[in-house]
Amino acid sequence: MGSFLLQITLNFDNFPKTKTKQMQNILVTGATGNVGRAVIDHLLRNPIGGDVIAAVRDVEKEKHTFNHLKGLSYGYFDFEDSTSFNGAFKEINVLFLLRPPHISDIEPIFKPLLLAAKQSGLTKIVFLSVQGAEKSKVIPHNKLERLITSLGFHAIFVRPSYFMQNLTTTLLPEIKKESSITLPAGRAKFNWVDVEDIGAACAVLLRSFDVHNNGVYEITGNENLNFNEVAKMMTQHLGAEITYHRINPLCFYIKKRRAGMPQGFALVMTLLHFLPRLQKEPRISSDFVELTGKSPISLNAFLHREKETFQN
Ligand SMILES: NC(=O)c1ccc[n+]([C@@H]2O[C@H](COP(=O)([O-])OP(=O)(O)OC[C@H]3O[C@@H](n4cnc5c(N)ncnc54)[C@H](OP(=O)(O)O)[C@@H]3O)[C@@H](O)[C@H]2O)c1
Repeated sequence: MGSFLLQITLNFDNFPKTKTKQMQNILVTGATGNVGRAVIDHLLRNPIGGDVIAAVRDVEKEKHTFNHLKGLSYGYFDFEDSTSFNGAFKEINVLFLLRPPHISDIEPIFKPLLLAAKQSGLTKIVFLSVQGAEKSKVIPHNKLERLITSLGFHAIFVRPSYFMQNLTTTLLPEIKKESSITLPAGRAKFNWVDVEDIGAACAVLLRSFDVHNNGVYEITGNENLNFNEVAKMMTQHLGAEITYHRINPLCFYIKKRRAGMPQGFALVMTLLHFLPRLQKEPRISSDFVELTGKSPISLNAFLHREKETFQN
């Protein structure tokens, strides 16, 4: 009896607090990226009574990438090829939409995309935005939220804070090569969230869309830390000193452009690190706990988990 109860408890632990009532085919854009992978992973952990479809640019290649995942379907989709939209959106009930980092000019790509979605009968969107998107009309996420709203979609906006994975992706080459992090972030505090947690929260929202329709969810971790504090934590974990260098935003932007970063991407990266200096400390939200029943992963736990990434 005891082990039976334990089994029931364990099985229910993995389920979202709210459940879907109907078949849902879910299309995940950005499927090969940080967040898309985590979303797919969490959706496939518990069958959704519909298909999970990875929206990818190269179907055959990504079938190999994801061959460890059972039950994933694939659809050809390219943000920059509007002829791919109708086929990809066919028979889709809910769209997980993100903005690839290099696309900063919203209207030319996302307006045709959203109109094609409507034409295909797709009316439900979970959009990956960013914490604080509502405060700044210049950032693309704000423009995209407004576009989605103005076109009358049923929408859920997910506004995550600063990804811990920035340390293992965008910032990694400098960390490995120079043992440093150079950003125009001054002493501003960032809220640190693990993309795994964003994936878990989005999976709940996609599965139980109707319950959360029109909602805005801030997915954050429990720690607000500046880059000096993070560099010290990394030094303790990695056993090698990591130094944080502050740089002014213009120099940072020029440096990134000279290193070959596209204009829009360099601008968004500069703003996302500079604007927090002008704003209050990020809000620590309880949305993740309420959606998943779990505590967010700490930066210490993340650094411990990813130790090898920094060393290889
Ligand atoms: N970094 C942060 O701290 C942070 C915080 C809050 C919000 N955000 C937002 O999160 C989003 C980025 O998420 P992420 O980190 O998961 O992105 P990511 O890892 O850079 O992945 C981007 C994804 O977009 C796909 N993609 C790029 N161009 C495409 C195209 N033309 N057609 C189809 N797919 C395309 C890529 O596929 P391929 O494999 O084919 O290239 C990849 O799957 C951005 O909007 C960012 O502003 C970031």
